[in-house]
Amino acid sequence: MQFGKEFWDVYTQLYALWMPHFVPHRQLLDELLAHARISKHASVIDAGCGPGLLITRLLEQGHEGPIYGYDFSPSAVEAARKRLADYAHIAIEQVDLEVMDWNRVPKADAIFNTNVLYALKDPEPVVRHATSRLKPGGVLAISTLSNPNVDLLVRAHHRWTRLHATLEQRRAEREQQWAFELMGLMNTQIARATQARFHVWDEAKLCSVVESTGLCIQYRNGAAYAGTGALVIARAQ
Ligand SMILES: C[S@@+](CC[C@H](N)C(=O)[O-])C[C@H]1O[C@@H](n2cnc3c(N)ncnc32)[C@H](O)[C@@H]1O
Repeated sequence: MQFGKEFWDVYTQLYALWMPHFVPHRQLLDELLAHARISKHASVIDAGCGPGLLITRLLEQGHEGPIYGYDFSPSAVEAARKRLADYAHIAIEQVDLEVMDWNRVPKADAIFNTNVLYALKDPEPVVRHATSRLKPGGVLAISTLSNPNVDLLVRAHHRWTRLHATLEQRRAEREQQWAFELMGLMNTQIARATQARFHVWDEAKLCSVVESTGLCIQYRNGAAYAGTGALVIARAQ
């Protein structure tokens, strides 16, 4: 199976519908933003922004600085622009992180890259390019696949809902349950079919790639995203 732009273009249409309700993803974004500790006026790049869920979360927290979202999937770009249409300080661009000219990317106070690296042909150059666009003292936050046992995600979602959801949320959950089961099934099949093409990086590997660019790690979690992801937050000197 090709795991390129065409795949993401179809997948994003489902992703944009389900992910805003998916608890492990929201928890990942909240963990990332809590530890990145950026000012509300910071300039931000979201590299591989998908339908704009991290940008939405930032805005919900009162962010006022300029935000640039990059993604190569036309449907991701369309979904992000639609979701963020009311905000003038946000620009979403359709670009391929692996072939774009990073020299023309404006320098930023924070660069985020959530759940994208594992699917790239060659992730390390993208980490180096992203680092090169950080202002002094800027923050790079990356999460990526560390454990392809993606069944853990849907199980974590259901566990959280059982323990914490209000009655109304549980009713909505029952209505959406088929969607999450289908998403879990799809992700598992995709992971199996494409495992040879995935870059599965544990926390140590992600940290060593990030540190090799000269950044200082300030937060790391090898069991983020319900135990399927490594999350690293690092700062430029
Ligand atoms: C699993 S989604 C994650 C989206 C978003 N970061 C989030 O956490 O909701 C992966 C995203 O990476 C994008 N992507 C994958 N390879 C890319 C590339 N080479 N250049 C730009 N975007 C890419 C896909 O189109 C997709 O939107």
